[in-house]
Amino acid sequence: MEKKSHHTPDKDELVRFGVSFPAVLIEQFDRYIREQGYTNRSEAFRDLARRAILEPSRFTADQRVAGTIVMVYDHHSSDIPQKLTELQHTFYDDIISTMHIHLNSVLCLEVIAVRGEITNLRALHQRIQVMKGVFYAELSVTYFEEMSAGHAHD
Ligand code: NI
Repeated sequence: MEKKSHHTPDKDELVRFGVSFPAVLIEQFDRYIREQGYTNRSEAFRDLARRAILEPSRFTADQRVAGTIVMVYDHHSSDIPQKLTELQHTFYDDIISTMHIHLNSVLCLEVIAVRGEITNLRALHQRIQVMKGVFYAELSVTYFEEMSAGHAHD
């Protein structure tokens, strides 16, 4: 017979707990969550917790994650299209897909879907960020391998 020494919590089990807030802060928080479209505090807290857990700075160097690099650049600036292509070929192992949108006659928006060790993704992001002609580049992590199976896609 199978013996279980530890209670394994059901992935969908909800745990209730009490939180103390200064009155002013909860007033501001309630206003914030209304503006964000939440109908209750619990869902807002859950989203904030998930966002905190996915903050890129908290991962260890070899942790495997998935996410996106979103960037805006001036495609006329020097040889940026060519440099960007070369860079993406260097990181081919970490890049799943790239979407390019011509925003106007000058600016391009590029969304790079990435999956790999956070160190590599950070290195790629940094290389993009310092390129001449890049106005904006942000790495955001939306998934890591140890994430609850209940929220993973298969
Ligand atoms: Ni373009």
